[in-house]
Amino acid sequence: MRILGIETSCDETGAAVIEGESKNKKVTLVSNVLASSLSFHSKTGGIIPETAAREQIKYIIPVIEQVLSESKSSKKKIVNRKSSIINLASIDAIAVTVGPGLIGSLLVGVETAKTLSYIYKIPIIPVNHLFGHIYANFIGKIHNSAADVQFPAIALIVSGGHTDLVLIENHQKIKWLGGTRDDAAGEAFDKIGRLLNLSYPGGPSIEKAAKAGNPKTFRFPRPLINSNDFDFSFSGLKTAVFREVQTMKSPQMRDPVAAGQLSNETISDISASVQEAIVDVLIYKTLKAAQKYKVKSILLGGGVAANQKLRDELKLKIENSPASTSEAGRAKLKIQFFVPEKWLCTDNAAMIASAAFYNYKPVPWNKITANPELYFY
Ligand code: KG4
Ligand code: ZN
Repeated sequence: MRILGIETSCDETGAAVIEGESKNKKVTLVSNVLASSLSFHSKTGGIIPETAAREQIKYIIPVIEQVLSESKSSKKKIVNRKSSIINLASIDAIAVTVGPGLIGSLLVGVETAKTLSYIYKIPIIPVNHLFGHIYANFIGKIHNSAADVQFPAIALIVSGGHTDLVLIENHQKIKWLGGTRDDAAGEAFDKIGRLLNLSYPGGPSIEKAAKAGNPKTFRFPRPLINSNDFDFSFSGLKTAVFREVQTMKSPQMRDPVAAGQLSNETISDISASVQEAIVDVLIYKTLKAAQKYKVKSILLGGGVAANQKLRDELKLKIENSPASTSEAGRAKLKIQFFVPEKWLCTDNAAMIASAAFYNYKPVPWNKITANPELYFY
């Protein structure tokens, strides 16, 4: 089964074609195209929803056209190629992100997908963007395929808008365990990045600056690390950094948050300390959930999952955690760790098509609406 995925929840316009093998439940990527309006948002230090939506409109048709033409070369023959510009002859289903996200951006993908479904009489599957981030882990060829993911599993989804822990008992049973009470982890990176005058998005910029820094220079809070639930809170961290920066300024400075006066060394030390604080909390809670639910796999997903420190530390801690060691203390119980390649962590359409394959529930096109507030429950 070949699925065309469409993703337009924020500032990326994505289309991808995946091949799902029903027999052994494997997904492989056929083609993937992504256009981004990030350069616009870098100038403003954050996403302006109106701009993002206008860019989505510009890119959506060219991106779909390109992904379909790139998927032609692979095994299934496209018939009737000349009949239209967008040729869906080889496509068995369309998957589209319906939420959460920015309403203007979402509408572009949703209405385009509905139109294609209507005209070409192709089944359409609405997909929750957050499920997409989980299912980036199931795309084969590039990394471990679905066959290797053992349930139950814990998934940590860390993005610009979300920080959630979910328990996956099987593809049909995904239970939300906890999430952030305020800012998402990516949002904290972005806001602190802005505070430090680093370029947007803050996550990759802080990661880069942190390389030259000492994570022990500042002891920033690890909010809710000892709470008896699976919730997170990152807004206090941003305030702590703000205060720290303020104390470094001489009193006569007018704008205490303009970090122009901070040395590169200080910016690096703050970045390393912030990164460590965020990574510590994420890992601690994920392992706690893994132990409580005795899971066999841990999956990481979302833009922040591209962070190398988070990837490395989580892998290391899983290997050394008591949950992955048998009573004898030697033979590993083997909690397997899955994390998508970096480009599959940030928003893309391949993950949306993958989620649709594993949860194949077509809906009549006229019953599908964009839902910016969509959540896990
Ligand atoms: O999943 P995503 O592309 O979009 C949303 O669904 O929100 O995630 C974007 C977020 C941004 O907040 C960005 O700063 C963060 O992911 N991010 C990172 C890294 N790459 C992207 N955070 C930390 N380290 C990174 N390397
Ligand atoms: Zn996302």
